[in-house]
Amino acid sequence: MNTLSMLPIPLLAWYQDNARDLPWRREVTAYRVWVSEIMLQQTRVAAVLGYFARFMEAFPTVADLAAAPEEQLMKLWQGLGYYSRARNLQKAAKQIMTEFDGVFPTEYKDLRRLAGVGEYTAAAIASIAYGQPLPAVDGNLLRVTARVLGDGTDITSGKGKKHFTELLQAVMPLEQPGRFNQAMMDLGATVCLPNGAPLCERCPARDFCVARAQDRTGSLPVRPEKKPRRIEARTVYFFTNRGRVALRQRPGKGLLAGLWEYPNTLEAEGDPLPAWGFSGVEPQFAGTGKHIFTHVEWHMTALRCELPEDALPVGWVWADREARQSRYAIPSAFAPFQDLVEGVGW
Ligand code: ADE
Repeated sequence: MNTLSMLPIPLLAWYQDNARDLPWRREVTAYRVWVSEIMLQQTRVAAVLGYFARFMEAFPTVADLAAAPEEQLMKLWQGLGYYSRARNLQKAAKQIMTEFDGVFPTEYKDLRRLAGVGEYTAAAIASIAYGQPLPAVDGNLLRVTARVLGDGTDITSGKGKKHFTELLQAVMPLEQPGRFNQAMMDLGATVCLPNGAPLCERCPARDFCVARAQDRTGSLPVRPEKKPRRIEARTVYFFTNRGRVALRQRPGKGLLAGLWEYPNTLEAEGDPLPAWGFSGVEPQFAGTGKHIFTHVEWHMTALRCELPEDALPVGWVWADREARQSRYAIPSAFAPFQDLVEGVGW
């Protein structure tokens, strides 16, 4: 017996009254649960809602997703970030069509074989869509569990995750595992908040939570300090030609793979204009902007200049407003310059 074993019954009662009304809970299929879980990785529910609706409209079935043109898929994902998630979704949809005869797999071990489906996602699908009693251990479940137990094991280590997964597995209700997992997620997202400010008075664990009793919610869960992000000073070039702006495609691998961008370089690498074949042009300062990725920050300086139509290197394109809006997936990193670009009376 531990305090975690006291949680399921009051938690499920709390969830009955406090569950968030979410589209993938209204109509539950493995496909919808899967897509929602992938979108929700590293992304907040509020940010996902619109994307989820547009995605389901465009690709109502696994077969539609498998057959989607990559350009359309990337455009639908534009702004969500972590674009490899979208590529893996389509890869997995193709796997389902070929390796599983178009039928969504139901077994945990088969789900794990799908591209981009790790332990968390496989357990979420198996429990929510198929009622299998597996804990879907994300940051919310780890935080709630560490606090209810007053357990100072490092939640970021593989060993710590395994430790908490076993503890959760032992108290998982066999009846409604999907509700249990989603109740834990909602509790973590709305009550047992991160950053030391939980709303304990509203919590179904308030009478037995060890962290609360010992006033340790501020120091639990335990995670080692993160490395600071690398800072990159970048120069971003807005080359224009009669209202159109130059874009180029990023390489197929690495950060923002395959997306379209305004040409940019590391400041430390010096002036790229000669290498791009532009001589005698003098880009003007047009603003600054910042974008934060997981491991790196871009501190950007924007420069702009009008170029002749035939000046672009091979592979670059002139994109008018319609093409920028509907055709090319341009990452949010460049959003600070949106007004600048759309204001082009340049
Ligand atoms: N975060 C990740 N998965 C979720 C889900 N199914 N419901 C609510 N929040 C979530």
